[in-house]
Amino acid sequence: MKVFVTGGAGYIGSVCVEHLLDNGYAVVVFDNLSEGHRAAVDPRAEFIEGDLRDADSIETALGDTHPDAVMHFAASALVGESMKNPSKYFRNNVVSAVNLLEAMIHKQIGCLVFSSTCATFGIPDRMPLDETQPQRPINPYGESKLMVEKMLRWYSQLHEMKCVVLRYFNASGASHRYGEDHRIETHLIPNVLKVALGQKDHVEIFGTDYETPDGTCVRDYIHIADLAQAHRLALSIRESDFFNLGTGGGNSVREVIGCCERVSGKTIKVLESPRRPGDPARLVADSRKAREILGWKPAFQDIEKIVQSAWEWHCTHPNGYGD
Ligand code: UFG
Repeated sequence: MKVFVTGGAGYIGSVCVEHLLDNGYAVVVFDNLSEGHRAAVDPRAEFIEGDLRDADSIETALGDTHPDAVMHFAASALVGESMKNPSKYFRNNVVSAVNLLEAMIHKQIGCLVFSSTCATFGIPDRMPLDETQPQRPINPYGESKLMVEKMLRWYSQLHEMKCVVLRYFNASGASHRYGEDHRIETHLIPNVLKVALGQKDHVEIFGTDYETPDGTCVRDYIHIADLAQAHRLALSIRESDFFNLGTGGGNSVREVIGCCERVSGKTIKVLESPRRPGDPARLVADSRKAREILGWKPAFQDIEKIVQSAWEWHCTHPNGYGD
């Protein structure tokens, strides 16, 4: 089976590509390298440099490679940036998805696995978050992903396309070869590890007055290898469906920093700062549906092991992919 992976040079995409190849799939990576890195593309995959905003480019790539399924990772994914530049999010995430879906219809490719996010839920009514809760995004990033989710419901009904939506909580960790190297790094774990590596003086804690046990935000950190496993399993279910993907456990910002200190053996200097706009206090997944229907069994349940894998990658790649 051949899988066409958009955004396969990015953080989560690259590890998913590696996982598919390790499991015997043929893989084509399609990426414009705006966020991704050429060196993050597994050499066993075919690589096409192309841009989803260009409808001809994606249609030609699908026509040339004849995949059986598409995994769509390519997207802009910074909540803060989306509040300043919403057009970028609607163009890169929604318009590009329309181009991809049209090309899939023209080339008769009937299976899509889509990277969505818990940011489609906004401020949840209750925790943990299962798939029955209302989706009310509070930023253009979450809105753009929800718009695509809604489009997929129509495409699966009207074009008999199987569309599986996977909503990630906080993707983290690394494989031996591929890890997190964003050109603009806003995520907690890599920023803390940069302090441990001596590349940054301190890390800010955004908000210490939340209604959580230690006053800092709680998130559900899920290892990207476990996300990759869910993508592979999504290929084999028969019907369109949607799943929340997290461990079901939560860790506060202070707990994550403490964990990074233990794993790296370094003291992390912190600066307590005001809340970051748009951050819900607590986001934890209820992933029972994924376990039951996909047969998903996340291997990393423990923040210590997740941080350990990230630390090993940052130590062996102190300058990321170096581009
Ligand atoms: N944080 C800090 N200091 C930092 C970076 C982050 O205190 O330097 C805090 C944030 O305020 C938040 C937590 O650490 O409370 C986690 O922040 P991240 O930026 O690592 O992750 P987010 O929870 O903001 O974002 C993730 C995904 C998004 C997704 C979002 C849904 O990266 O793609 O969850 O809320 F949209």
